[in-house]
Amino acid sequence: MTATQCSDGPVAVTGASGYIGSHVVAAMLRRGYTVHACVTDDRAADKTAHLLAMGSAGGAGKLRIFKADLFVPGSYDEAFADCCAILHVGAPLGYAGRYNPRQVYDGAVAGTGYLLSSAKKAGTVKRFVYTSSFAAIGHRAPSGYVYTEADWATDGRENDPNWSEENIDKSGGVAYAMAKVATEKQVNRAAEEDGRFDAVSVCPCVVLGPLLSRTQEGVGSWQYALARMLEGKPCPRGWQGLWNIVDVRDVAEAHALIAESDTVQPSSRFQLTATDRSGELDVWQLQKHLQTLFPTIDVGGAPDEMQAFLEQSGGKVHDGPRAYCTKAREELGLATHAIEDTLRETGQTMIHLGLLDPAWR
Ligand SMILES: NC(=O)c1ccc[n+]([C@@H]2O[C@H](COP(=O)([O-])OP(=O)(O)OC[C@H]3O[C@@H](n4cnc5c(N)ncnc54)[C@H](OP(=O)(O)O)[C@@H]3O)[C@@H](O)[C@H]2O)c1
Repeated sequence: MTATQCSDGPVAVTGASGYIGSHVVAAMLRRGYTVHACVTDDRAADKTAHLLAMGSAGGAGKLRIFKADLFVPGSYDEAFADCCAILHVGAPLGYAGRYNPRQVYDGAVAGTGYLLSSAKKAGTVKRFVYTSSFAAIGHRAPSGYVYTEADWATDGRENDPNWSEENIDKSGGVAYAMAKVATEKQVNRAAEEDGRFDAVSVCPCVVLGPLLSRTQEGVGSWQYALARMLEGKPCPRGWQGLWNIVDVRDVAEAHALIAESDTVQPSSRFQLTATDRSGELDVWQLQKHLQTLFPTIDVGGAPDEMQAFLEQSGGKVHDGPRAYCTKAREELGLATHAIEDTLRETGQTMIHLGLLDPAWR
């Protein structure tokens, strides 16, 4: 197996300025690695200041910023030179309409193809960790179904007209899920064919926890939705079922543990989801938790559409997705944060960064 250690050389993190990517950078710096942090604009101080601060905090690890773009072939050649591991977190996402569904798909699939060419060109890469998503696992399933790493979003979709090439241009959700499935398979195939490195994927569900910069607001993201509730507004997404929550620090730590694991199986995957039922919350449970954690705020909850939805669904929300990060805890030794800590840190950091206007009582 091809576990990495600091003496093997630098590691590269794509999407380093982003919510998950920044925590991955922090996890690798803490371990003493030199981190090549890849950002699309190395002159955007609002996206790099927090990374530079981490790099100069006096720990063992060193930080270097590289400019690179998934849409540009060869863009990662310089950043990946001499690297022993690639932690490929970055992806064009639809937040705030920055990318359309076709770009989300192409940036993941074709972009990762370019990036794999850069990794092969470097010749020093031993492990490639790909940030996939629970979207590559979740398929239509009855209420209460428990997903594992053996599930694929393609399961049972053979005759589903929505799961089609044509729909990539029309549906952000389809484009994203199809891209994550295709990219996971692509990185595994590339690693198996190359033989010098192996690939492992992580599949996070609802990621929450501390934000490290204002640019991590992600208009439309889960943290954005939580912030709206702390403004006393109704929950804008995910109220039809459960929020299956994982802490961003645990997602990042899992990336680092995979990079350094000498037991992880090549082409395997780890779902990064709730630790147990305490992390699977419907909108009322979420609101109750937030109300306890933020007693001086009038927390918002279910939206107006909920009533009509419940009349149609027999009075219940969908009991899912249910999924647990048991494999990551058992095989990687991942220790997870308690749900209260995750929710509190999300809200507190967003208030601190001025990303929400709390509905003070
Ligand atoms: N957050 C979740 O709940 C969640 C759940 C499952 C999976 N994921 C996956 O986790 C990864 C990170 O997501 P996130 O939540 O951290 O989102 P994020 O904060 O928006 O980060 C996305 C990152 O991708 C980079 N990126 C965007 N376009 C790019 C391009 N053309 N070339 C290179 N990099 C580009 C951005 O870099 P710049 O800012 O430098 O442009 C940004 O750092 C994604 O792959 C996402 O699919 C997230």
